[in-house]
Amino acid sequence: MTDFYLNYPTDKLVVNKTHSILSNSNSLSFHHSLDCYKESPLINLENLSNKLNISKLCVKDESKRFDLNAFKVLGASYAVFETLKKYPNTSVFCTATDGNHGKAVAWSSRRYGKKTIVYVPNDTSSLRIEAIETFGATVHQLDLNYEQTCNYASKMSKKMNWQLIQDTSWENYEEIPSLIMAGYLTHFIEIDKFLEIKNLSNFDIIFLQCGVGSWAASCIWYHLNKYGKNRPKIVIVEPNESCGVFQSFKDNNRVSPIGSLNTIMAGLNCGIPSKNAWEIIKNGCDAVVKISDEEVKSSMKVFYNPIKNDSKIISGESGAAGLAGLLKTKKASHLQALRDHIKLTDSSKILLFNTEGDTDVNSFQEIIKN
Ligand SMILES: Cc1ncc(COP(=O)(O)O)c(C=O)c1O
Repeated sequence: MTDFYLNYPTDKLVVNKTHSILSNSNSLSFHHSLDCYKESPLINLENLSNKLNISKLCVKDESKRFDLNAFKVLGASYAVFETLKKYPNTSVFCTATDGNHGKAVAWSSRRYGKKTIVYVPNDTSSLRIEAIETFGATVHQLDLNYEQTCNYASKMSKKMNWQLIQDTSWENYEEIPSLIMAGYLTHFIEIDKFLEIKNLSNFDIIFLQCGVGSWAASCIWYHLNKYGKNRPKIVIVEPNESCGVFQSFKDNNRVSPIGSLNTIMAGLNCGIPSKNAWEIIKNGCDAVVKISDEEVKSSMKVFYNPIKNDSKIISGESGAAGLAGLLKTKKASHLQALRDHIKLTDSSKILLFNTEGDTDVNSFQEIIKN
């Protein structure tokens, strides 16, 4: 089974509209201005790192971000803010989502007293739908998959003159997805500031779970822009059943995944990679590794049952995917070429992100107790 891909990136950033939006981002000062702002913790899992025989393992824990249980609000809040600066008469925001992004758009739009219409695909759980409705959004569940739902939201927004705040881009729709990526920069800046203050050295390898790739591309852009070729190695982690970046690397072209789209990792169960994200990912990521639902369930339990005095981390199905990618890369005998490629050794300092907490509490409890 081919479950990994090794990339040899150019390490070059293309100068285009996305690059200029990311370069001009003032997301950190915007997020600082919000009364709910609090830096998310960077948790050092010393005992797990010893067990894995690596030098350091830290997890940026986004499960408490603005009390929304996921990192997505960093992007949505910044895009809504910037969009309202440009189009102050906007009255309705719209989006398609498998959960976290829709909640984030609804939360952000409600801060300005605007209406939100959210479309969700056929497999979004009722708990995730209720969570979006909590923030006043009207949610419509469609009998479509994620990619088709995005197309539908785009058509409806054009027809109804709503502002589409979509976290994936396509031909002639790149500005707002770029603003979302610009908002994500906040937590990469937070990490660097933290390391500087504590006089700690940078990480060597980062594992990034990936849906449409906007978040991974934002992380890659940040590190390439700041460190050039001295950036950390980047490994993209995708579910076996929905691996658009893996497939795009294989085909050397941006394509939809060919898997069943049947995975518990709802946030990663996406379609074709985002247009502007793919341009960055292909030039700045080192490898892709695919993981199974079983592997992510074990990783959720590893976070939940810490070794000795390591912190307990509540991590949802998509949140724990980065750890699942690391554990697989570290242990699987057939992945030696991947380990060599990213220089994973006992002196590696590794960064992971817990991108969501227990966003579907029922499913989380079920997984943890089994
Ligand atoms: C919890 C979580 N992690 C990771 C991702 C991946 O982000 P992207 O779709 O930008 O690749 C998502 C996307 O919704 C998510 O909800």
